[in-house]
Amino acid sequence: MKAKSKVVLVYSGGLDTTVCIPLMKEEYGYEEIVTVTIDVGQPEDDIRQAAEKARALGTEHYTIDAREEFARDYCFAAIRANGAYEGYPLSTSIARPLIGAKAVEAARRLGASHFAHGCTGKGNDQFRIEFAIRALMPEAVIHAPVRERNMTRKWEIEYALARNLPVKASLEKIWSIDENLWGRSIEGGRLEEPDFTPPEEIFQWTKGPEAALGKPAEVRLAFRDGVPVAVDGEPMAPARLIAQLNKIAGDHGVGRIDVMEDRMLGLKVRENYECPGATLILTAHKALEALTLTREELRFKALVDAEWARLAYEGLWFDPFKDDLEAFIGATQKRVEGEVRLRLFKGSCQVIGRSGPWALYNEALASFDDAEAFDQRESTGIVKHFGLQPRMFLRLQQGASAK
Ligand code: ARG
Repeated sequence: MKAKSKVVLVYSGGLDTTVCIPLMKEEYGYEEIVTVTIDVGQPEDDIRQAAEKARALGTEHYTIDAREEFARDYCFAAIRANGAYEGYPLSTSIARPLIGAKAVEAARRLGASHFAHGCTGKGNDQFRIEFAIRALMPEAVIHAPVRERNMTRKWEIEYALARNLPVKASLEKIWSIDENLWGRSIEGGRLEEPDFTPPEEIFQWTKGPEAALGKPAEVRLAFRDGVPVAVDGEPMAPARLIAQLNKIAGDHGVGRIDVMEDRMLGLKVRENYECPGATLILTAHKALEALTLTREELRFKALVDAEWARLAYEGLWFDPFKDDLEAFIGATQKRVEGEVRLRLFKGSCQVIGRSGPWALYNEALASFDDAEAFDQRESTGIVKHFGLQPRMFLRLQQGASAK
């Protein structure tokens, strides 16, 4: 086998990607392995351990801090689109294009065009990461060893132990976890069975109803241009704002999500998520849209949002269709400004008030106490002719059955 020069391995520090390090040398014939870990808000410990492991295995390692960019350009785009797929706020999905983009940036700096990742052949991440890399670097060569070798966890563990790879933590972990600023996803083992009760131990960001704080809390979230800008009156940069709300909402048990998810390949898999901050922000954002957008806009935006979510789920982040959808979304968001008050208690997140300069609400019109602004008598004619066509149909039907 002719030795190839350099490969950039998108590295998380977990079992799959750790196994890829020696494999890239032994089986794929690369001389130099460069590992890159993209920080999109996973636990600091994971980031540190990934760097230590990679260096111990002799790779050239880079940790790339993409937290602020992830919050501002990815999470905030999802907020404007009320981003959710089958009830899941797309936390893993929207991180993948950025991870791909950052890996490409690193490769360009290093003069490399070969990549490897640890995605399996069953999930969605293989589509998202490979699309992002190929979209930004058409000449890229991409390896997916776990998929290409149809690996099992058992095989990976034996391979790792035989080579003394630092995978001790992976042996004790039963669950497969993916974590970033926008949410935490827990998969694997029995959790994927539709009828298995998720054990309390899988949750780390959210308290269960019993452990959740015993007193309700109120949060005030301010928006401008469709994105949150301040919590309880205090202006905050995007990443900090999301982190803060993850903590506040998580302590009140908000944001546990359990869904049957239709993956891209058609597999139906049961998924567990913790998205406390995202749940709170999306709830508030929808409340402000309901106050400020017209009925027609809301109806049409729901369709646009669903298309946006499908693209985001599939990782087609650089599809021009997404820009087209965002042109509409962006036009509506200029008026999504104001403040939403929410009450958090034992897992519930309730809107208890909303206000904004573009509110399409007029107290005099809606009130029961003002006879001048809206003269009820004027409705008489409109009401009389309401439902004209179904009424004509019913009359015809009666005539036909009398025959
Ligand atoms: N099913 C989700 C998605 O496709 C999350 C997958 C996260 N991966 C994990 N190992 N927990 O977006």
